[in-house]
Amino acid sequence: MKLNFISKSVNDTKKLAMAISNNLFKGAVISLDGDLGAGKTTFTKYLAKGMGIEEEVSSPTFNILKCYFKGKLPLYHIDAYRLEERINMDIGLEEVIEGDGVCVIEWGKFIQDLVFQPLNIKITIIDSNTREFEISSDYQKYDSLMNNLKESLHA
Ligand SMILES: Nc1ncnc2c1ncn2[C@@H]1O[C@H](COP(=O)(O)OP(=O)(O)OP(=O)(O)O)[C@@H](O)[C@H]1O
Ligand SMILES: [Mg+2]
Repeated sequence: MKLNFISKSVNDTKKLAMAISNNLFKGAVISLDGDLGAGKTTFTKYLAKGMGIEEEVSSPTFNILKCYFKGKLPLYHIDAYRLEERINMDIGLEEVIEGDGVCVIEWGKFIQDLVFQPLNIKITIIDSNTREFEISSDYQKYDSLMNNLKESLHA
């Protein structure tokens, strides 16, 4: 299933992320891709907000993994940008990727082999305030999320 969304502002991205957050479940994995500054962290911030996480979500680039336990579900936020060369390091990412909460991976393409049954979100920069979000998945477990999202975005 595929769904395209044009975001014309950070607020549109917030609406998208909040709509997705309402449909998340234990074991959901979101692989985010798109150029530097596309909006992966911005999207994740609002996803966390929608999940009831009040802590400020910041980029985990230098930490690789940040965990948030105070929302409806645990949120594991991974940034794989600098992970390529450390891919053989045993840092237990598999555990959080197939874990008891929701896992969001910025630059998921860099650790594609580790990412288990993801919802893929590709963000393309159109201009300074406009982003195209292409949401797709090959896995049935996201069907109701996708269907609900279609409805809420067209409402
Ligand atoms: N429609 C939009 N949606 C999201 N962000 C937008 C939009 N328009 C402008 N922006 C701006 O784009 C920037 C996105 O930065 P962000 O850190 O989220 O990108 P990123 O994809 O995580 O980058 P990196 O690859 O460096 O981690 C922010 O400064 C944000 O304000
Ligand atoms: Mg980022």
